[in-house]
Amino acid sequence: MQLKSIVRSLIAGVGIVSIGIAGCTQARNFEANSQTQPSTSDSSADQAQAASNPEAQVPTRSPDVVYVPTPTAAVNEMLRLADVKSNDVVYDLGSGDGRIVIAAAQQRGARGTGIDIDPQRVQEANENAQKAGVSDRVQFRQQDLFQADFSEATVVTLYLLPALNVKLRPKLLRELKPGTRIVSHAFDMGDWKPEQVVEVDGRTVYYWVVPENPPANLL
Ligand SMILES: C[S@@+](CC[C@H](N)C(=O)[O-])C[C@H]1O[C@@H](n2cnc3c(N)ncnc32)[C@H](O)[C@@H]1O
Repeated sequence: MQLKSIVRSLIAGVGIVSIGIAGCTQARNFEANSQTQPSTSDSSADQAQAASNPEAQVPTRSPDVVYVPTPTAAVNEMLRLADVKSNDVVYDLGSGDGRIVIAAAQQRGARGTGIDIDPQRVQEANENAQKAGVSDRVQFRQQDLFQADFSEATVVTLYLLPALNVKLRPKLLRELKPGTRIVSHAFDMGDWKPEQVVEVDGRTVYYWVVPENPPANLL
């Protein structure tokens, strides 16, 4: 039984290792392809690009994690586990190509907002929303999720990294309304124990509900 759970953790961990490796590779490719240094907004490379092409959108700083999409089965499970309904406002923090927010609108009639630091992802997500016919119910913002106001959310979805979930935890607990549901693909929230953990197609989905009075050790 213990061996089974270790094997499961290793499978889930493949995602994060891939993210790490892909992260290094993609960051380098991004730099090579666009000749843009995805770093802080005051980097000289960013300023040079912005000056030479004012239309170009440059990430304000390097993403904390690279883009790796959640497979459809896990997206569907996240929406099921959070019991997303048409009166929900779903926020995906680090929204990539927008698939979670778009699925929430398409399948469940919810409204949604995706936040991603990478303007390329935001553009892609907007195009995908258009194609899916849900542009009237979803929006995508280029923003650092750690700076974003997502307090109107009734459901928050995450596919980040373990350390990012833990770093984000105080903001989630302080700023979200009690009763807000949170689902995370692959990664837990440290000492904040989930109410449910579900496996789907080798992926793990965690589920929490924001409590009325979060314990001090989680803040
Ligand atoms: C692993 S992908 C997940 C994409 C999508 N949520 C999904 O599950 O298919 C993480 C995304 O977070 C974005 N990201 C990384 N750091 C961020 C930050 N500080 N603020 C906003 N987005 C960020 C990346 O650009 C990437 O698109």
